[in-house]
Amino acid sequence: MLDKNKRQINYLRLSITDHCNLRCKYCLPEKDTNFYNNCDLLNSNEIEKIVKAFSLIGIKKVRITGGEPLVRKDFNEILEKINHIEGIEKIAITTNGFQLLENLDLFKKNGLNRINISLDSLNAKKYNEITRGGNFDKVFKTIKEATLKNFEKIRLNVVIMEGINDNEILDFVNLTKDLDIGVRFIEIMPIGEGKKFTSVKNSDILNLIKKHYLLEKNSNLSTDGPASYYKVSGFMGEIGFISPLSNRFCDSCNRVRVTSNGFLKLCLHYNKGIDLMPYLKDETSVETLAMIIEKAIYNKKPKEHHMDNSENINDIELKGMNKIGG
Ligand code: GTP
Ligand code: 5AD
Ligand code: SF4
Repeated sequence: MLDKNKRQINYLRLSITDHCNLRCKYCLPEKDTNFYNNCDLLNSNEIEKIVKAFSLIGIKKVRITGGEPLVRKDFNEILEKINHIEGIEKIAITTNGFQLLENLDLFKKNGLNRINISLDSLNAKKYNEITRGGNFDKVFKTIKEATLKNFEKIRLNVVIMEGINDNEILDFVNLTKDLDIGVRFIEIMPIGEGKKFTSVKNSDILNLIKKHYLLEKNSNLSTDGPASYYKVSGFMGEIGFISPLSNRFCDSCNRVRVTSNGFLKLCLHYNKGIDLMPYLKDETSVETLAMIIEKAIYNKKPKEHHMDNSENINDIELKGMNKIGG
């Protein structure tokens, strides 16, 4: 479908939980008792109904996000259900990489095409500090193993924070020399705990990289997210830049979100949407739900985000990225 601003909407970001087994410093506070109860989360049948409805309006790609999606015990069941829905061509996940190694083959078999893994440092001690307890060696082993399994894409998400990991940029670029992965540098957004950190402009990162490497531009697929991609000549992998602060990508936005408690969120930084939960609990048909969603996207999806406009900042955003799913 096209929205009012003639953007093709073909990408659904579906958060299936706000819970996480890590507490990255820019995402979750040290202590937080604010997670949704499991009974408030969409169950696998409700997720199936939602995705069926979205497929009817032209969604081709579903990215499963969290919190950490793999903390859900029924993740594989959810994956299987989405995989059987006609019209969904790509299934992707954004994960911190724990609980993945042992399931790579199973998830591949059940239709998972693409994996994005959060990794903000290549230094084990620093990684452990940023994530408040994460085991670098385990995630790194998982990344390497995943590259051998013939997934369509393996990408790393690297949120660069001034004074914390901005000295590791060239190390991350170097990682793409012998590994067929995409390393994406992300400007940190002032959401929840993210407000406590200073972002680094991606244009500065690109200039630094250009001083050391010859870069070629790579192209995007129509179902890709907001990153722009390059490749160091001769390297196996690619590098990408996600620049929500310095270079708004709203003109080419192709996505909407559903939060883990069933709220249709039309933009990462926008308040208005609709609660889908009532339509999942009652007899509303998939076709009717699709019409409701289509109308909401057409009428309400904003032209661009207003990260600094407090009118648009809702409860979910104040609570943090784990409630939105990134
Ligand atoms: P690909 O399918 O690999 O293109 O994934 P993606 O980049 O869309 O997804 P991922 O979950 O890996 O997100 C990477 C970063 O992009 C996260 O920090 C997200 O918050 C951010 N991001 C994704 N979509 C949007 C968006 O619409 N607006 C903003 N501001 N940030 C976004
Ligand atoms: N700004 C940018 N990216 C963020 N992420 C989490 N919080 C923020 C933020 N404030 C990233 C995570 C994960 C993805 C879903 O979003 O690192 O890779
Ligand atoms: Fe968990 Fe991802 Fe948030 Fe880190 S960024 S605490 S891995 S949801």
